[in-house]
Amino acid sequence: MRIIGLCGSLRAASTNAALLRAAATMLPEGAVLEVAGIGDLPLMNEDLEKPAWPEPVQRLRRHLWTAEALLIACPEYNAGIPAPLKNAIDWASRAEGIGGVTAPAGEARKTPLADLPVGIIGTSPGMLGTARAQQHLRMSLQSTGARVMPGPEAFVGSARGKFDAAGELTDEPSRAAIGRVVAGLVAWAERVRD
Ligand SMILES: Cc1cc2nc3c(=O)[nH]c(=O)nc-3n(C[C@H](O)[C@H](O)[C@H](O)COP(=O)(O)O)c2cc1C
Repeated sequence: MRIIGLCGSLRAASTNAALLRAAATMLPEGAVLEVAGIGDLPLMNEDLEKPAWPEPVQRLRRHLWTAEALLIACPEYNAGIPAPLKNAIDWASRAEGIGGVTAPAGEARKTPLADLPVGIIGTSPGMLGTARAQQHLRMSLQSTGARVMPGPEAFVGSARGKFDAAGELTDEPSRAAIGRVVAGLVAWAERVRD
């Protein structure tokens, strides 16, 4: 199973990126996780959809079209979705044809997010561990037609001290929570596909 990861933080030392790295070590046999960059996407602007989506948008969409599941690491900015992540979702939510064609031949879905199984994880220094941003993200994804996994959820709060000097997630309960989301997402994606 091919899982695409998106990280809502563009920071080089992002703790949310570290969650995705941890998740990549917990995949069952046969599953791969590839993180797609979103830092080079222009800000959403419908004027940029003609004559064709900008190249970084097309690249993101092609990544998503190849995915059987999506794992999003969502930081929390002012109790909501960080702008780079919302921007990526907005570009991916646009129907094929508006800015060209990025879907593989024969694909019936109109957008790469439609019916795509999605799992969500997140970490922040606050106690709630991105709970508010994740709720915001769920609401937004609902309108894209993505199949967001109801649970398990993973909120890695009070993040300081849960990562080592190299920036890797070391806190065992947090790693276990990420592992539950990874296993749940693989099972969810198989169920949604059948
Ligand atoms: C503009 C801004 C707003 C933030 N708002 C919140 C917030 O509402 N809740 C929270 O827990 N952390 C908040 N933070 C702190 C981030 O969660 C923290 O910087 C976190 O490390 C970001 O994730 P990263 O390590 O993956 O970059 C905010 C940070 C920024 C830059």
